Amino acid sequence: MRHLISMEDLTRDEVVRILDVAEQLLPIALRERRSVPTLRGKAVCNLFLEDSTRTRLSFDLAAKRMSAEVLNFSAKGSSVSKGESFKDTALTLNAMGVDCVVVRSHSAGAPVQLASYLDVPILNAGDGWHQHPTQALLDVFTMRRHLGDLEGRTVVIVGDILHSRVARSEVQALKLLGAEVVLVAPPTLLPPAVEGWGVRIASDLDAVLPEVDVVYLLRVQRERMRGAFFPSSREYARIWGMDERRLGLVKPDALVMHPGPMNRGVEITADVADAHQQVITEQVTNGIAVRMACLYLLLAGEGPALAGDDTEEAA
Ligand code: NCD
Repeated sequence: MRHLISMEDLTRDEVVRILDVAEQLLPIALRERRSVPTLRGKAVCNLFLEDSTRTRLSFDLAAKRMSAEVLNFSAKGSSVSKGESFKDTALTLNAMGVDCVVVRSHSAGAPVQLASYLDVPILNAGDGWHQHPTQALLDVFTMRRHLGDLEGRTVVIVGDILHSRVARSEVQALKLLGAEVVLVAPPTLLPPAVEGWGVRIASDLDAVLPEVDVVYLLRVQRERMRGAFFPSSREYARIWGMDERRLGLVKPDALVMHPGPMNRGVEITADVADAHQQVITEQVTNGIAVRMACLYLLLAGEGPALAGDDTEEAA
């Protein structure tokens, strides 16, 4: 792997390799709170030009658990707010000799652009409506831990597909692993080219729920909306939201997942969010291991030992 910009760049075997490495790293990511010296001497820059809680903290912790030096950079408080161009920011990072850049941006294509300015691995932490590959990887990792092989499993993705980089990456990851994907969304929140995605589109959520193994809810992304895409939040919740009644329609062992941040009372009621908090929290925790795996594979290749013999207590 040279960069991780889009799920499209990955083969099935590469996805499985990332998930397997993440599985090995999970104890270090969480329970044992140890760091491995694998990325000692490497400088990882987190370039976050758009707001983030989970993804930013998760990349930060992932790099630190692997003993990398971490530079956290956000638009606010940097020269970006003085009007410095993206290219000049990139050249500055180059001059500092960073070994990897994790980038989040409002602009689809920012990671590709960055890759043209810098000669180091670029990791996409979400670019506009385009891609969010590590979110998709942590989600399929979480599904795999609960359901085993995803071949032949069915996942329904519900909600604001149009504005969702998560949905775009998620569909590709699930299809690579052989899962069937169903999309349920307000017609106004389906992308125009969705026919080419190779998924099933359904309009009646109640009819789909009994057959699925995972209900994946998306946030209604108001900050990306210009105009009204549905009548009201109440109407949205009634037709596309996950509530107690709908929860009664899913198989007992089906997972309810959400990438966060959640709009309680819109795509998910507070009751359902609390009842399924465990898996949603697991997604966040697993994200650290998956991001460690991505950093490891991009920066250390197959070289140094992963875990086990040469670990040390985290500071
Ligand atoms: C997602 C994102 O930023 O694309 N969140 C995340 O990374 N955990 C989804 C969202 O904002 O709705």
